[in-house]
Amino acid sequence: MRIGILGAGNMAAALGAKWVGAGHDVLIGARSAERADALAKRIGARTGTLAEAAEHGEAVLVAVGHAATGEVIPALATRLAGKPLLDCSNPILPGPGGLMLSTDGGPSAARTLADAAPDAHVVKAFHLCAAGVWAGPHAVGLAVPVCGDDEAALAVAHTLVADLESVPLPVGGLDRVGYLEATAAIVIGMWFAGQDPRTMLPSAENAHG
Ligand SMILES: NC(=O)c1ccc[n+]([C@@H]2O[C@H](COP(=O)([O-])OP(=O)(O)OC[C@H]3O[C@@H](n4cnc5c(N)ncnc54)[C@H](OP(=O)(O)O)[C@@H]3O)[C@@H](O)[C@H]2O)c1
Repeated sequence: MRIGILGAGNMAAALGAKWVGAGHDVLIGARSAERADALAKRIGARTGTLAEAAEHGEAVLVAVGHAATGEVIPALATRLAGKPLLDCSNPILPGPGGLMLSTDGGPSAARTLADAAPDAHVVKAFHLCAAGVWAGPHAVGLAVPVCGDDEAALAVAHTLVADLESVPLPVGGLDRVGYLEATAAIVIGMWFAGQDPRTMLPSAENAHG
């Protein structure tokens, strides 16, 4: 599959390298040609501009961060039309009681992305774990919660999850993304505090006692 990646940072590197390894034709697009070139060379991808990445991808990963999407995405909206647009963003900030959502009280980050590129098919995925997890061996067998409204785009996202040797876990449509983004704020906050979120959950068979 042709995959365009917007951004040349940690998530672009982690997911891009794995997808190149799985045989996909990845193009790294960034505002800095130097950074796009350096990452593309390191992981064996193509390099280009943000617009070229949006054009290239049969699926496009947004890896520029939620705060930048309002600037980056509207200019690419026409090129993104009809394509799965993968949102891995964590709109979280440090707050007085721990991590909080910068989107609190407003639309989710994924919904804002969908509004900025109304003809793209936004799918939320890959936001819960650190780039280092996606880059390393601990993504193998990991359940990856995925939210989206478009069946074909979800199928593409599931394939790209499987190409990380992870397991897609559909958890609903875009109307549920706010819950998933809030889950990230809690879970990531626990990891930062040295707590293990996995210890709070029984197995499915024991979920009801
Ligand atoms: N890192 C993680 O562990 C992790 C885990 C899960 C989800 N995420 C999410 O993944 C996304 C990317 O995170 P990251 O850690 O990969 O970020 P990063 O390493 O800081 O890279 C961000 C990329 O976005 C580009 N960028 C920033 N502002 C831009 C703008 N206004 N216009 C164009 N490009 C811009 C940067 O370009 P320059 O280099 O030119 O600044 C850089 O290429 C975020 O939404 C984050 O919440 C991250």
